[in-house]
Amino acid sequence: MSRYRVPPVLRPRLTPKYVASSIVAIYVVYCWLWGMPLLSSNLPAYTGPHSVGTIDIESPCDGRKTSDVKFKSTGEPAFLLETVLFSVYYPAVKNAKSNKPKHLWVPKPLAVTAEGYAKFAHISNFLTNSIFTVALWGLAGSTTIPAKVDVPLREVAPSFEFTEHGQGKPEAGNDAFPVIVFSHGMASSRTDYTHFCGELASRGYVVAAIEHRDGSGPGSMIMNVDGTERPLYHFGLGDLQHDESFDTPELKQAQLDFRQAEIEETIRVLKAINDGSGATIFEMNPRTEGEHLATWEGKLDMTNVTISGHSYGATGALQALKGAPCPERPFHGGLILDPGKSSGPLNHDIDVPILVIHSNSWSKKHSVFFGSPHFDVVKDLVADVNKRGKAAWFMTSLGTSHPSVTDAPLIEPTLLSWTTGSTINVYDGVDVYVNVTEEFMIYQKAHRRTGLLALEVTHPDYDSAANGTQQMPEAYQRFWQIHVAPDAA
Ligand SMILES: *[C@@H]1O[C@H](CO)[C@@H](O)[C@H](O)[C@H]1NC(C)=O
Ligand SMILES: *[C@@H]1O[C@H](CO)[C@@H](O)[C@H](O)[C@H]1NC(C)=O
Ligand SMILES: *[C@@H]1O[C@H](CO)[C@@H](O)[C@H](O)[C@H]1NC(C)=O
Repeated sequence: MSRYRVPPVLRPRLTPKYVASSIVAIYVVYCWLWGMPLLSSNLPAYTGPHSVGTIDIESPCDGRKTSDVKFKSTGEPAFLLETVLFSVYYPAVKNAKSNKPKHLWVPKPLAVTAEGYAKFAHISNFLTNSIFTVALWGLAGSTTIPAKVDVPLREVAPSFEFTEHGQGKPEAGNDAFPVIVFSHGMASSRTDYTHFCGELASRGYVVAAIEHRDGSGPGSMIMNVDGTERPLYHFGLGDLQHDESFDTPELKQAQLDFRQAEIEETIRVLKAINDGSGATIFEMNPRTEGEHLATWEGKLDMTNVTISGHSYGATGALQALKGAPCPERPFHGGLILDPGKSSGPLNHDIDVPILVIHSNSWSKKHSVFFGSPHFDVVKDLVADVNKRGKAAWFMTSLGTSHPSVTDAPLIEPTLLSWTTGSTINVYDGVDVYVNVTEEFMIYQKAHRRTGLLALEVTHPDYDSAANGTQQMPEAYQRFWQIHVAPDAA
């Protein structure tokens, strides 16, 4: 007679992931027992001059396959691009009323995301999936994104005026909104950076936040035009049929290639909207949003797009800049936040202006990256772009940690500062990134150096002891160290 078998979840292997997920589970149960709200804060309102609209666009792709690797379980190709999904944040017409409910921060169905996180922790089974679903529901299940869903896009001013903190001069001949495409990091999804994206939209930018289905996120529902849908969960090497040569670095490259294909498909859909096919994109959108897209014709500056990303997404954004600008990737600037330390080599072959920002913890923690210190690799990369005659900056934002630019610290400030060691006020944490992004957009479009980007190098190397420098105007001292900047013109 076989002995009673203890289910895997009750036979803890003390891996960091198991411990982390247990802490989360215990925290949730604790809050529930004591009737404490799990959420200490809702997402704040956006502060820019425009109200912010948002729509989810999912659009069919013609079955583009970026790798031949298949899933073990089904034999289906793992890197087949059926649809592309992204959320657009945009400046909306004033006082527009939405008749659709606000988007949930954790997209429905919640169980897909929850099960994905459980898979991440390598403890996916019925019991843990239920615990994760309840935990996620308790943590953020009712949190909504404050943007108005599917309201009309604002009329573009005859000449788009860069806000530049009130001092901007209108640039002649540019009648469309500047567009930023944003790529998320590992274990994330399109809704993890909504405050950063929405805040930029409130200041006049159109931001498309992609949801990558490369297996690096927790989970995502793929929805087709014919109404069928299929969940895609986090997957790793063990879930794939592969020969010996396909190892972890190969998997990462396959994921980055898939991410690049999704970036290109996002550009294709945005171009179609700008070219007047918005009504078709709306009709084919299984998420049933975008009823005003027909009026977006000519409103997006698709000739001068900015690619941006965080972590894995920053590595992908650098890869997408190889050969750019080109028709599939019309990128004239790159905003690179915490480029990955374990997502494969970083592309140095870049011929457009870039701004690379490290969070404080990213610069502070010494890590070896393909045989050299990661910081030095990034610094060389940025210096190379300057040598090519394109402006490039590398700086560290003081007091921040890796997740500071995400929504997580805004929703759970205490938990996040406790686990990641960030010391900056959580609102400033996102604000510093948004402010300098605006300055970068002014540079990309008008070649004018303003604010922080007008300053010279203050700290060639990251200095963990310095809290700022007299070399900078006071407003910046607490927040920045500049490691590389273009020579003064
Ligand atoms: C961002 O810019 C605004 C407008 O200039 C300024 O009031 C605010 O203090 C800045 N935020 C940070 C964190 O520097
Ligand atoms: C587009 O980008 C190029 C290259 O950075 C720049 O020279 C040009 O001024 C931009 N054009 C517009 C219309 O913004
Ligand atoms: C950093 O700030 C603290 C407190 O404001 C001050 O005592 C210290 O001297 C400063 N350190 C440097 C290197 O400026």
